[in-house]
Amino acid sequence: MTHPASVTDRVRDFYRDMPFNFYSDAGVAADSIARNPIAAYPDLDALLEEDEIASVLELGCGAGWAANTMASRYGKRVTAVDFTAPALDRARDVAGRLGTSDRVDFVESDLFAFESAAPFDLVVSIGVLHHTRDCRAAFAHAARMVAPGGFLFVGLYHLYGRRPFLDLYRGICTREGEDAAFSRFRDCAETLSDETHLRSWFRDQVLHPHETQHTLAEVWQWLDDEGLALLSTNLNRYAEVEDRATLEVQEKAQEALSLRRNRDEGRFFPGFFTVLAQRDP
Ligand SMILES: C[S@@+](CC[C@H](N)C(=O)[O-])C[C@H]1O[C@@H](n2cnc3c(N)ncnc32)[C@H](O)[C@@H]1O
Repeated sequence: MTHPASVTDRVRDFYRDMPFNFYSDAGVAADSIARNPIAAYPDLDALLEEDEIASVLELGCGAGWAANTMASRYGKRVTAVDFTAPALDRARDVAGRLGTSDRVDFVESDLFAFESAAPFDLVVSIGVLHHTRDCRAAFAHAARMVAPGGFLFVGLYHLYGRRPFLDLYRGICTREGEDAAFSRFRDCAETLSDETHLRSWFRDQVLHPHETQHTLAEVWQWLDDEGLALLSTNLNRYAEVEDRATLEVQEKAQEALSLRRNRDEGRFFPGFFTVLAQRDP
């Protein structure tokens, strides 16, 4: 009797065929890091400027843009974990070109199996935990690696913001086929100019074998459970975190915003949110 492949196997196979955020060559990837892609997350950018953040763990580093940026631009010592070997090969190649190989340790492992003797000042995981067999358990595993007084930065698909995107692109795939969906994606995601990079995004966004979506209300409870306090989120544009009821209203507005961007304006809006949190010292 054959068994259906597990979520873990399907996701690993998917990224082995083509890693995410994968450029046509390592030189182009290194050039993209020189432009500091972490600036897209102002709260993480400000935190990384602090000297108190010495050790960083990244879970699900993929082809290494964030790990290599944290090492090269902010001078951090980074441990970066992923289970996709071709992504790690590229990440190491880029680190060599940036001259930061001595500051980044790329580790091939399932994130659930990764353990460390010492906790980290900052744990980062961007767009990863929602592709695991159990997002809540993966979140707990990441949180456990945060040192007292340390920080956790996580990016996840958003329940309300993601639906309009998926409905639109899955609908096009069903009615007109994958090429038509890719053509629409190309028009909407005009900042992705490298053809290989664009294709890696399209696969990841539209053809993925497994993803879950979450809300801030849900993740806030996870933070409470893990002994972490929410500091900031992109859902209110990094403004001061107010009461939960206000943020709940703000996050529900993601659905209308996503509809407007994806459907009406033809702009790529993935429906993705981030949280930055701190463990009590
Ligand atoms: C959407 S990509 C994000 C990669 C990277 N964080 C980025 O922003 O480019 C998801 C990554 O998570 C990795 N991944 C998924 N499940 C994993 C697991 N259980 N253990 C380790 N890595 C995993 C995949 O190999 C892939 O590189």
